[in-house]
Amino acid sequence: MDASEGAGAQVFDWLDAEAGRRAETGLSRRLQPRSPVSPELDLAGNDYLGLARDKRVAGAAAAAALRWGAGATGSRLVTGSTELHAELEHELARFCGTQSALVFSSGFTANLGAVTALSGQESAIVTDRYIHASLIEGCRLSRADIAAVAHGDPAAVKHALSTRRKSRALVVTDSVFSVDGDLAPLAELSAACRAHGAALLVDDAHGFGVLGEGGRGAVHAAGLSGEPDVVTTITLSKSLGAQGGAVLGPRRVIRHLVDTARSFIFDTGLAPSSAAAALAALGVLKAEPGLPGRVLDNAARLYGQLSDAGFAVTEPQAAVVSVRAPSPEDAVAWAARCAEQGVRVGCFRPPSVPDGVSRLRLTARADLTESEVDTAVKVISATAPRGATS
Ligand SMILES: Cc1ncc(COP(=O)(O)O)c(C=O)c1O
Repeated sequence: MDASEGAGAQVFDWLDAEAGRRAETGLSRRLQPRSPVSPELDLAGNDYLGLARDKRVAGAAAAAALRWGAGATGSRLVTGSTELHAELEHELARFCGTQSALVFSSGFTANLGAVTALSGQESAIVTDRYIHASLIEGCRLSRADIAAVAHGDPAAVKHALSTRRKSRALVVTDSVFSVDGDLAPLAELSAACRAHGAALLVDDAHGFGVLGEGGRGAVHAAGLSGEPDVVTTITLSKSLGAQGGAVLGPRRVIRHLVDTARSFIFDTGLAPSSAAAALAALGVLKAEPGLPGRVLDNAARLYGQLSDAGFAVTEPQAAVVSVRAPSPEDAVAWAARCAEQGVRVGCFRPPSVPDGVSRLRLTARADLTESEVDTAVKVISATAPRGATS
């Protein structure tokens, strides 16, 4: 029988109505096929240091899969924690200068776990309005009082902290914001937290591996990574080219997460192959401390050429370079034209953009050559829709 006939066939009719509305406003999403080897120039992925395919990294994943199996087989609290998990946590904490670390199956679950476990009904949470979706979900699940304040505004954070009704408080921010690539005022936010007895949780997904001494991240660069009231989350899927996430911070915070973070306790542990890949990538980053600088040089080159060409581009603070598009439809068509000409770029539209403005999102990887950056700029310029330049 056809799914549109018989008892219960109308239950999901509303999905078609919503799909129609998304299509009318240029907000439909489509999975694109991907082949293992592509001639396209990739400015869409988050493999900032070009390590996802590095033989040392992919080889470590393959060897670990053969030794430990394809998956973790269960929560680490049930089936055990491998030496790879322990070593990765030790090395991440040492590299970033924190007392301790705990790895999760993704950056998303790390954020869910950290926000929910460090807040709750008795807490207030103050967030920047532009935080990543995973932090927003953590806030929603936390049952805390939430104040989402203006973007990049420490005075607004101070005000929300000083007028809160709960004694405990957690301030939540991205370090580098994923849409425009701008940097949060971490020192000011930390000072506001200190003045008002709040903890600071920073998602350094886009700063780790790119900013700070040898890629130790934005929190380390701000001198905050070893502080007793600061917790950092990272993903292993961007600069480390692997998969997974981690929370870094004081030992007692990590102990609390092991006991209470539901996205750690009730989730299958990080696959041993991903832990091995992240560990190998961290080893490469330590051995090649010049990699983060190459990302920043490429980001500056992209930004310089695109802004000279008249595009509305935000000055990048890390690897992310965003170019504004006149509309969601224009952004999709522009990205498709770039792909036809051999350059893959990201396309951000609502609801992935907090301000409603659609963008092309470019990532400046360390392994892009200057001539590849120049080619990308030429293609982006040649395929731009009307209204994209001033
Ligand atoms: C700022 C930020 N936080 C968290 C995540 C989630 O990390 P993961 O992809 O490892 O789940 C992402 C990315 O996807 C991100 O951009």
